[in-house]
Amino acid sequence: MSQHQLTRAGSSNFRDSGQDGLIHRAFLRGEGFTHAEVRRWPVIGICSSWSELNPCNAGLQELAELVKRGVESSGGLALEFPTISISEPFTRPSSLYLRNLMSMDVEEMISSSPIDGVVLLAGCDKTVPAALMGAVSANKPTIMVTAGPRPVPCHNGLPMTIDDLWPACEARRLGRVSDAEWDALEGQINTGVGTCNVMGTAITMAAIAELLGFALPGSALAPATSEKRNEIAHASGAQIVETVKANRLPEGLVNPATLENAFRVVCALGGSTNAMIHLEAIAGRNSITIGSHVFARWADDTPWVADVKPGGRYLLSDLEEAGGVPAVAKRIADTLTLSAVAADGSSWRDVVGKVESRLHNCIAPSERGLSTRGSICVVHGSLAPRGAVLKTAGTSEPRLLHHRGRAMVFDGLNDLHARIDDPDLDVDENSILVLRGLGVTGAPGMPEVGHIPIPARLAREGVRDMLRISDARMSGTATGTIVLHVTPEAAAGGALGIIQSGDEIELDVTHRALNHFLSVQELARRGATAPAATAVRGYGWLHQKHALQPDFGCDFDFLRGDFATGAP
Ligand code: FES
Repeated sequence: MSQHQLTRAGSSNFRDSGQDGLIHRAFLRGEGFTHAEVRRWPVIGICSSWSELNPCNAGLQELAELVKRGVESSGGLALEFPTISISEPFTRPSSLYLRNLMSMDVEEMISSSPIDGVVLLAGCDKTVPAALMGAVSANKPTIMVTAGPRPVPCHNGLPMTIDDLWPACEARRLGRVSDAEWDALEGQINTGVGTCNVMGTAITMAAIAELLGFALPGSALAPATSEKRNEIAHASGAQIVETVKANRLPEGLVNPATLENAFRVVCALGGSTNAMIHLEAIAGRNSITIGSHVFARWADDTPWVADVKPGGRYLLSDLEEAGGVPAVAKRIADTLTLSAVAADGSSWRDVVGKVESRLHNCIAPSERGLSTRGSICVVHGSLAPRGAVLKTAGTSEPRLLHHRGRAMVFDGLNDLHARIDDPDLDVDENSILVLRGLGVTGAPGMPEVGHIPIPARLAREGVRDMLRISDARMSGTATGTIVLHVTPEAAAGGALGIIQSGDEIELDVTHRALNHFLSVQELARRGATAPAATAVRGYGWLHQKHALQPDFGCDFDFLRGDFATGAP
């Protein structure tokens, strides 16, 4: 056996006439596979993140069966295996904290198993990037099937999408929702399997999977339980056999042009700010660094055209009817590299060429866009030398986009919860709320808590939005004038950790700037904030030692493709 065979498994052992072949085939026969089945080629792994602890991915079991039938219809042998699964609402301290662990699980299982290619089944926010990161590192032919959005229920006679949850929680906090209404809400928020049903992080990542050439074009928006989703799963099973035969590898799919395509489509969709972190991490697995200034440039000259919730007005089903992700790609086609390969082996030129021109109000003409500012704004400055991001899609108060005010600083969640609703809190609608200590190492794992609530006293007076700044992330389903991912984070010595309540901060979206006004002398006088406490053992220790800042995707340094060269 060669060293290569020892370190990277393929299916050749199933066809070996000696001891290895006998053992491989015999052990599968024990599972009930037939004499003919264990001789099929290619052997395809189905890597499933199904879990009862991850309701968004709970529909993946049925899809796995359809993928298997697709593989078998094309002559292959499909073998399903589990990976860990990360649920956005359930996982603590944050889902991002475990994303890299899941990516390692996926990578090692793909690398070490006797499979020629893999179909990734993922859905909830972190399972999609984690699976893609692992697959890029393993570098075997890969297709992804995402879970699709869950149904949109009716509440009080109106469609209720997941972004409607946040105003409901806010109303409850202010005492405006009765116990009976609160109890009724529980049974109406989530009425089926599948991912969040707006352009949050999960659907944003599903669109990215399409643009990078992993998921079949037009697959992101098909409902979780639909005939179309079933067809996509079956077709993906058939497609992976072709992808293996063509030896189309992830290292060829993830390149500067496809990463740019993916992010431009995210901007056109009004997608989640989390996309920047995950795209940077996926790129890093192939030794590519995008950089916050490049993201800023792409965001600046890409129009926001998809008028869908949470930033816009329409439902995902409207966008699906209008042609889905390919229709949005067609609308901004002049900014894309159309020679990029789609998951079905065609080019994106072919994909957008097949989009029927259907007039639908939920996709704006690219020359007008839905906002002169685009949907995502990357800012830099003395408060965020390595970048921070603001989702401008859906921000309701233009005055806050160029705003200077006094900071009210909260050190972590306990401090926030203890003081935010204090009637004597020294804030008004022009104050800037700062929440820090919740970055990738500080929290750890950048929990989605950057959506700082409006202080109850101000909310009761009718204040709906304030400028808020954090080194945390925010749910892709939330909106507001909130600057996130401030890099470096407070716990890594960033200026955010030195700011005190009363200091002035300015956000200037026109000039993409986020600044404080402290002198060098004052900064030196105050000194650096204390770093986060170091975990003493286990995965926490690993995370603390090796997680990179958001501008490197919060990946572990040793998982990047260029780690051996000493970068970054
Ligand atoms: Fe899983 Fe939103 S919580 S996709």
